[in-house]
Amino acid sequence: MAITAISKRDRLEPYLVRGVVVMAPRDASQEELESRYRQAVAEIKAERFRKLFGQARIPRKFEVATWEMFDENDPAVKAARKWAEGAGKPFLFLQGPVGTGKTTLGTVAFKERLQRELKPGLWREFMALILELQAGFQTGQYERLLEGVADAPILFLDDVGMAKATPWRQEVLFVLVNRRYNDGLPTIFTTNLTLPAFARTWGEPIMSRLHEAAELVHMAGKDLRRQMGGRRGGSR
Ligand SMILES: Nc1ncnc2c1ncn2[C@@H]1O[C@H](COP(=O)(O)OP(=O)(O)OP(=O)(O)O)[C@@H](O)[C@H]1O
Ligand SMILES: [Mg+2]
Repeated sequence: MAITAISKRDRLEPYLVRGVVVMAPRDASQEELESRYRQAVAEIKAERFRKLFGQARIPRKFEVATWEMFDENDPAVKAARKWAEGAGKPFLFLQGPVGTGKTTLGTVAFKERLQRELKPGLWREFMALILELQAGFQTGQYERLLEGVADAPILFLDDVGMAKATPWRQEVLFVLVNRRYNDGLPTIFTTNLTLPAFARTWGEPIMSRLHEAAELVHMAGKDLRRQMGGRRGGSR
């Protein structure tokens, strides 16, 4: 095997460019340093995003969803994009019948916001969170768990309203909504309850805050799951 000697020019040295360590040849030009700096920053951001993405606990089914799946002229998609860009109201409330793509669209927006802001984000299904909190009573982790979700820099709360409302669950949702309302923290909610049913079930204090702080978006249409599982080969 031929061995190529490493020339002096190929030997890289560390430079500190605006607080970032950049490896470049000894006689690197200003442009070369700039370009290597941009590359290093892009790599640092990509690595941070990968880490945050893993920590958010997005279910596998929705991890792969992208904007390409949606019609960019759809008002719900426009609202989701606006939220993802950090423009407009802090909350995005996606409401509509079963299987209309709320979780999918919300997750795409959540991922985009995570990538843009590179802040920790949590993806939680509301009922699963309730069970986790309940278990926290036994383990003494209740407060810590609730605070962690209430203060998460970015939060996706899926399927609020699927759980049967009890006074304690209403209180948990109120704490989450109120804290995030007070602090203007970016949050997505999805539910298949209508707005009046949501207000009746979860209480006017929550609904009132959502009216102010949330972009209330209705997702209409047929159940996409039924369409996907529908007729195949004309045998059914
Ligand atoms: N734009 C889309 N293109 C193709 N498939 C989609 C699209 N949006 C959603 N789906 C698929 O449709 C199904 C239902 O989507 P999703 O789970 O997001 O709906 P949902 O409104 O959250 O339903 P539910 O109210 O039951 O929670 C899923 O299998 C999802 O992968
Ligand atoms: Mg859903």
